[in-house]
Amino acid sequence: MPSVTVKEIHASVPAKVILFGEHFVVYGTRALAAAINCRLTVGVSGREKSGYHVKIENIPTFGLELDLEEQRGGKALTYKDFSSATRAIAYVKAAIEYLQEQYGLGREGAEIEITSEIPLSAGLGSSAATCVATIAALRAYFGIEGDMNKIQKDAHAVEKLVQGAASPIDTAISTYGGYVLVERNEVKRLRLPELDLMVGCIGSIPLSMDSTKATELSLKTKTLVAGVRERKELFSGIFDPLFDAVDELTAQAIRAIEEGDSARLGALMNINHGLLDAIGVVPRRLSELVKVSQELGALGAKVTGAGGTDDMGGIGSVLVLPGESGARIKAAMEIAGALAMDVKTGGEGLKIEPGY
Ligand code: PMV
Repeated sequence: MPSVTVKEIHASVPAKVILFGEHFVVYGTRALAAAINCRLTVGVSGREKSGYHVKIENIPTFGLELDLEEQRGGKALTYKDFSSATRAIAYVKAAIEYLQEQYGLGREGAEIEITSEIPLSAGLGSSAATCVATIAALRAYFGIEGDMNKIQKDAHAVEKLVQGAASPIDTAISTYGGYVLVERNEVKRLRLPELDLMVGCIGSIPLSMDSTKATELSLKTKTLVAGVRERKELFSGIFDPLFDAVDELTAQAIRAIEEGDSARLGALMNINHGLLDAIGVVPRRLSELVKVSQELGALGAKVTGAGGTDDMGGIGSVLVLPGESGARIKAAMEIAGALAMDVKTGGEGLKIEPGY
């Protein structure tokens, strides 16, 4: 086991938006994602006692504190506050166990502190961000050598362990930042100009929700991906051409971004949204955000990420190319109960900073 070389490590990673091709990408078609200027940081520092202690702060809607060793001892978990925190903890715990298994990560343990600006369960990559930053910070803290590629692969393995299935798109964008194209499960980094977009986010999981339901919702992506698979098998002759259409759509969108053709880019977002609706991942509340944005003059609007369903509360996010109508769209989204955020694409990927 490598020796501890620094007292403290901070690893920070960006949130992501999927611009084109979510869901379809699970079956190998092209998808384009971008980092946005909203980050999650994992700090790892020394601890008097053995074992790992995790503290999560500043995640929109909740804060939480949990001692993983207590959990192992069979004692009740001590939550300061509780909602979808179970999700973040599931990824942190899986990351520690994965590193213990793969690299013999020490029993000496550490303090792990997570701070985040990324809303949870909203399709903005909070799970992948947690995986990448936790893996990167722990690897650096315990002196496990390896490049960004290795960190991304470890983080993707952890995401799959927790979720069952996941394309590499989220962990790739958290690690590398910028833009990432995923094609037949291969990750390619692209250099494209920055875009000014708006994200509208419906609900994080309400604090009043009971823990079983919150855990269920926190694995929403898994449920939605399974639903698409079911419908794809049932209606394969109808779904197959939709997959070809999204593949072509993503290719055309990349050209539109390269050429700075916003009108074409917006139109392609609208088409992508229609196709997501066709495969059953657009709940009423997200549909309304898209329609209102389009009506108020957005060049394009679509669901981004896994989407949602009405019986899961319509939680999820939309992505808008607002054109000149940003202020009006933002106000309308807020009236509709959404969190509206102006975002810039193409930000920096994983940053690791040691402290001595
Ligand atoms: O978890 P989300 O909301 O970022 O969605 C992930 C994107 C999917 O294409 C739906 C699933 C995947 O693994 O690519």
